[in-house]
Amino acid sequence: AAEQRQKQHTLNDVLEKACHAYQKNLKVSPRAVSYFKGRGLSGVVAKQFGLGYAPEGWRSLASVFPAYDDPLLVESGLVILNEEDGGEAKRYDRFRDRVMFPIRNIKGECIGFGGRVLGDDKPKYLNSPETPVFSKGRELYGLFEARGALREHGYALVTEGYMDVVALAQLGFPNAVATLGTACTAEHVHKLFRFTDSVVFSFDGDSAGRRAARKALDAALPLASDVRSIKFLFLPPEHDPDSFIREHGKEAFARYVSEAVPLSRFLLDAARDGCDLHTAEGRSHLSSNAKPLWELLPAGALKQQLLTEIADLVQLSSRELTDVWYPAQTKAK
Ligand code: UTP
Ligand code: MN
Ligand code: MN
Ligand code: MN
Ligand code: MN
Repeated sequence: AAEQRQKQHTLNDVLEKACHAYQKNLKVSPRAVSYFKGRGLSGVVAKQFGLGYAPEGWRSLASVFPAYDDPLLVESGLVILNEEDGGEAKRYDRFRDRVMFPIRNIKGECIGFGGRVLGDDKPKYLNSPETPVFSKGRELYGLFEARGALREHGYALVTEGYMDVVALAQLGFPNAVATLGTACTAEHVHKLFRFTDSVVFSFDGDSAGRRAARKALDAALPLASDVRSIKFLFLPPEHDPDSFIREHGKEAFARYVSEAVPLSRFLLDAARDGCDLHTAEGRSHLSSNAKPLWELLPAGALKQQLLTEIADLVQLSSRELTDVWYPAQTKAK
């Protein structure tokens, strides 16, 4: 265990060193600076988030780490080791010619990176791989930077992207975080609830964003409670939080926040999706859609009330609905 701690400590040092090097590179890379400026970022917010630039070239990090062959660099995810062609092992930088977003843990230590191409190449973003200090399913981008604002604003905005977090922070919502290009997990939600008891999911308005919201619903339902608030904000299809707030401004975004849909309504909407409530078939379909979602809720007043609401929608009593959902158990009684 002590050995493992030592290893993590060393990995943190490596990542921290790279982070500083990327930040320094940004200052002398007019292309990268114009990229960020072109996206409306101020120098202040760039500094606050430690944004940087990974230069072109296959082994740029060799100037930062003279021992470029050190296995630690591979373990940190900064260097890729390619042993394929049976011959000599080849090492090269993972991040090349990308603007860099350092990902920090809650102590503020750099644990990984997201890197974006400056143009339209694919993949648009590269992220650090899973390492002993970095796990995508657990970490939230911007949580360290947002931690004070979460208390002040009283809620967290959960977005999909790096740029969403940075743009929102610059334009008046420093309480934003992002999942790291993965679905929002129960662990993400659980972590957030250590800092606030109110969460607003604000994903992209496109179909991928709506799918992400559905996954977040599944992740959040078990953590719902009578003292927590979980809401979902749906932007117009052509927007993500970054593009929306830049085009329509702070007040317009604040309006969307205030009109965010509570978890209970999103659950009902999700269950109703595609069901024609004018027909018995449609109502029955709703009841079977609702069951697995409703079951994820922990026991409590909210769960009880949703049972009533679902029953009303399908024109049954609560008792009849639970009889439909749990036939064997009811017979046994
Ligand atoms: P988006 O495609 O919505 O990108 O992906 P974005 O954040 O709006 O990017 P910009 O505005 O064009 O810069 C949302 C998030 O999904 C992850 C990233 O974390 C991104 O911020 N992602 C996306 C990847 O990891 N890899 C990709 O190739 C694309
Ligand atoms: Mn998207
Ligand atoms: Mn975007
Ligand atoms: Mn987006
Ligand atoms: Mn618009």
